Amino acid sequence: MDKYNATGRVKKAIDIILGLLFIALLGYSFTGAPFHEVAGIVFIAMTIIHNIINIKWYKAIKKGIYNRKRKITVAVNFALAADMVSILLTGIINSRYLFHTGIHMAGIGRIHAVLALAGFVLIAFHVLVHAFGRVQKKYKVLPAALVILISLLAVPMDVWMLPYVKRHFLTVEVDQETVISGESVDFNGRKILTVYFTRVGNTDFADGVDAVSGASLLLNEKKEFLGNSQVIGQMIRDAAGGDIVSINTKEHYPSSYSDTVSAASEEMGRQELPELVDMPENIDGYDVVFLVFPLWWDTIPKPVEAFLNRYDFSGKSVIPVVTHGGGGAGRSIKDIKAVCCGTVVEKPLEIYCGDIPYCREQVTEWLKGL
Ligand SMILES: Cc1cc2nc3c(=O)[nH]c(=O)nc-3n(C[C@H](O)[C@H](O)[C@H](O)COP(=O)(O)O)c2cc1C
Repeated sequence: MDKYNATGRVKKAIDIILGLLFIALLGYSFTGAPFHEVAGIVFIAMTIIHNIINIKWYKAIKKGIYNRKRKITVAVNFALAADMVSILLTGIINSRYLFHTGIHMAGIGRIHAVLALAGFVLIAFHVLVHAFGRVQKKYKVLPAALVILISLLAVPMDVWMLPYVKRHFLTVEVDQETVISGESVDFNGRKILTVYFTRVGNTDFADGVDAVSGASLLLNEKKEFLGNSQVIGQMIRDAAGGDIVSINTKEHYPSSYSDTVSAASEEMGRQELPELVDMPENIDGYDVVFLVFPLWWDTIPKPVEAFLNRYDFSGKSVIPVVTHGGGGAGRSIKDIKAVCCGTVVEKPLEIYCGDIPYCREQVTEWLKGL
């Protein structure tokens, strides 16, 4: 194999890997945060290599004539470079695993996703120009090839991006009773308490559905909002029996999702815990406590910490159940153990928020295995 052939093959291999990696990165909602962050770093490293290999392009930039096509190509390539740098920066700020910058910015995840979508379009253009740039006019198949390529690119868009977009902008209507009901699981007479915390139960949605930005909400047949963790709590209670209580805060959260993310970030930075209201006097009579909560900033929400702080858990099994937007249980279990003297089960049930309406069977199977 001569030197040029070998370089060409390496180039091609890197480009193919880059393309596949980018498609995998668009599937954040499915792959979860740890994979996404590691793949993101690999992608950036390979992009740098791609640029070094193609250094000739930069060297030639001041040479030759600039016709319209060349102007557009150069503009797109520079826009792509700027977009990649912005994706990297927003990704680092938003990182839950690899980087801990301590910067909490509302809406940064959304900005990262929009930049990724723009990157997708720019990459598609970049690939098309370079792949077909040298094809001579006599090849009439070019327009057809372009259409096929764009259609192929649209498939990963549909598969990966739409569920993500849907989760953030649409309210899912469910039949509450059907969603939560299912098989019972026997806990040999042990006294069970299910406790849940949810943003929805601690927010005043006075302005109705349309006012709720970044919804990710469930709506029952009576047009009442249901929290993800509330629905999971009700499934556990339906399966395992016992009692169910919600964690209620005195101060409510804003109805906008992004504002709640900011409010929670501020709350995390404060020393004092939020005040809880309408809570049971004690939880003495229970052997097992299922603790259902949403992952907030990679850990337990402050009201959950307030709940754990309030009661004596000695001699009880505490079984965490985490609903999340891709981050799994984050560092919540470690943080629960730091404030709770009960026996905390190491492996919690983790449920991705988009799966809530369809996971009753998964909950049953998990309960059977405890
Ligand atoms: C303040 C806030 C912070 C969040 N932080 C994270 C996070 O760090 N990782 C994650 O995967 N999801 C995060 N999410 C998404 C929630 O964990 C997820 O949507 C959850 O299912 C919401 O449950 P709920 O409807 O019971 O409140 C966050 C949501 C909010 C409101």
